[in-house]
Amino acid sequence: MNLKKQAALQAVKYVHSGQRIGLGSGSTVSYFIKALGDLVKSGDLVDIQAVSTSDETSIQAQDSGIPLVDLDHSGNLDITVDGADEIDPNLNLVKGLGKALLREKIVAAHSNEFVIIADESKLVSQLGDSVPLPIEVVEFGIDAQEKWLQNLGCVAEIWRSEDGSMLLSDNGNPFIRCWFKDGIKDPSTLDKIIKSRVGIIEHGLFLGMATRVIVANITGVVELKT
Ligand code: A5P
Repeated sequence: MNLKKQAALQAVKYVHSGQRIGLGSGSTVSYFIKALGDLVKSGDLVDIQAVSTSDETSIQAQDSGIPLVDLDHSGNLDITVDGADEIDPNLNLVKGLGKALLREKIVAAHSNEFVIIADESKLVSQLGDSVPLPIEVVEFGIDAQEKWLQNLGCVAEIWRSEDGSMLLSDNGNPFIRCWFKDGIKDPSTLDKIIKSRVGIIEHGLFLGMATRVIVANITGVVELKT
């Protein structure tokens, strides 16, 4: 079976009737939304409300018959299920290569449980080993931000589409991606440095946030907890 789907189906077991659920974004979560929608349609899951983290997720949830509410109107969420780009042995994450990191982080911060689903290709010994760190910024002064990020020891580039235009988040903001040649040695310090920079909105390091990680490999599903 498809490994992303396998992890998603395991996560569905943690969702119960009456709950408020955060829906992440990306290809792995799309299997979770499909499975959730099937349970709603069959009546096995009733009285649920979901909060979406991207326009793409909202469309899929609506098409799947999952009732959506705003985060503002739903109080704390019981559980959020999301994907990840990298997962380290401490269950710290790099996220955001689907451009939804800001809403994903807000929703995760308002969730009692934050469950990550992934295939085993997302497991790394150190964050930044296999993917760049995406950073959402305001457009004003973006070239200056790029240079400032370079000085942190990474190769920083404005994230552009093939036609050269800047890719934008659902919030209308551009991104800078940072490649750390030898990985991110001290994620906690980097988190604080980047967050304290005026003009930077949010970055893709999710530290100490995941409460459970469900990883599928060819022999089955493994669950990791902090
Ligand atoms: C979206 O912005 C990301 O954080 C996704 O959760 C991440 O990119 C994982 O996506 P896939 O499930 O498509 O690999």
